[in-house]
Amino acid sequence: MSEYIKLVYGGKTYQLPLITSTENEKAIDITSLRQETGLITFDTGYANTGSCASAITFVDGEKGILRYRGIPIEQLAERSTFTETAFLLINGVLPTRKELSHFSVLLNDQSTLHTDMQFFFQNFPRGSHPMGILSSMVNALRGFYPELQTVEEEINITVTRLISKIRTLAAMSYKISMGYKVVYPRPDLSYCANFLNMMFDNPVRPYIIDKDLVRALDIFWILHADHEQNCSTSAVRLVGSGRVNLYAAISAGIAALWGPLHGGANQAVIEMFFEIAEKGGSVTRAVERAKDKKDPFRLMGFGHRVYKTYDPRAKIMKKTCGKILKKLNIQDPLLNIALELEEVVSTDDYFISHNLYPNVDFYSGILLRAIGIPINMFTVMFAIGRLPGWIAQWKESADDPNWKLGRPRQIYVGSKKMKYLPIDKRER
Ligand code: ACO
Repeated sequence: MSEYIKLVYGGKTYQLPLITSTENEKAIDITSLRQETGLITFDTGYANTGSCASAITFVDGEKGILRYRGIPIEQLAERSTFTETAFLLINGVLPTRKELSHFSVLLNDQSTLHTDMQFFFQNFPRGSHPMGILSSMVNALRGFYPELQTVEEEINITVTRLISKIRTLAAMSYKISMGYKVVYPRPDLSYCANFLNMMFDNPVRPYIIDKDLVRALDIFWILHADHEQNCSTSAVRLVGSGRVNLYAAISAGIAALWGPLHGGANQAVIEMFFEIAEKGGSVTRAVERAKDKKDPFRLMGFGHRVYKTYDPRAKIMKKTCGKILKKLNIQDPLLNIALELEEVVSTDDYFISHNLYPNVDFYSGILLRAIGIPINMFTVMFAIGRLPGWIAQWKESADDPNWKLGRPRQIYVGSKKMKYLPIDKRER
């Protein structure tokens, strides 16, 4: 029997149906609410609003569970590669050997950039943030690669083109910003190895590819590959709902990710560690500031809208980070600061009562630094990882014959109707 809840309003009783998810979570279906009652809901930050039904990613924030297409993140991080996980997210199933090889061939075929794109890079002002450059360049891709004839061809080629080219774009923007010679992708290298080579190979010092670093990068990108309806993914779905092309929707996602409360937190965390180190290394002041309601400072890399326990991605990131630092024999003082911060807040009443635990960004920057990634590229690394998720979420919407234009409502709190005042009568 279908379940519903009763709403009593204006002397009438309305029945609102309940929807049950695969994992037994319940939601009130309010699609007919305004039509039947004249009411809308009010939910700033959408903390209680389900914006779509999705079969891609499951998160249980209370238990610290994350699964892509049903597979636990721990198993994917242990056994999968980033390209295999991308295929899984986008197509809904793990690829067969043949499918994976075909996907890899497409990624390889699409990996170079139109040479004219280099001129774009050169004309961004020095010091432009790589996230702004990436968002613009991804949007610009549409100009270089106009729509293909058939819908299926368009989707397959655009998807692999984006996943492949984003990595070339990122590495190229780094090389050009440093004044170095651009390194092209190589057909004999895997997705992650190719990226590292494009970033760090140099005519006078050839880059030696280390399989442990390649594996660490695979894990880093798997951990970032999707996270259901977060800020940037919702931006992709919302912008996409206007039926823009996929490049424009992804460009919007990159812009949304840039913010320090979202993907930009990985850069903000390292900057916070540096500040602590510069002021003598004591974490006490940062912890006290984070608790002071008059101070806007927050402990970056802590807290999450959904996770009210330890972020499962942060656990894997911390372990991978420890392994790589040990292997490279790096003594990073920032890791000691991170460990101390985590230890101090784990017994602090404020952090316990607010359910604030490390999120994916807390340890990720230390790993990226060990790999050699410059700090201003950290959020770009997140964006490369999140791309398959954005594409999968966009595709799920686009495949839905009832995909509606996203258009929230509002509670208007401005002036009542008033007359236009001529300029010479305005006094302030
Ligand atoms: N440091 C100190 N206090 C915090 C923190 C923090 N990092 N995060 C939340 N709080 C406190 C708030 O001050 C608030 O306290 P109050 O209820 O006493 O006023 C309470 O916890 C709830 O905070 P909200 O901002 O309402 O919670 P929300 O769910 O909106 O926040 C967010 C989630 C934005 C991630 C927040 O925890 C934060 O700002 N963290 C730091 C930035 C960060 O690491 N972002 C990356 C998130 S992961 C990702 O997007 C990839």
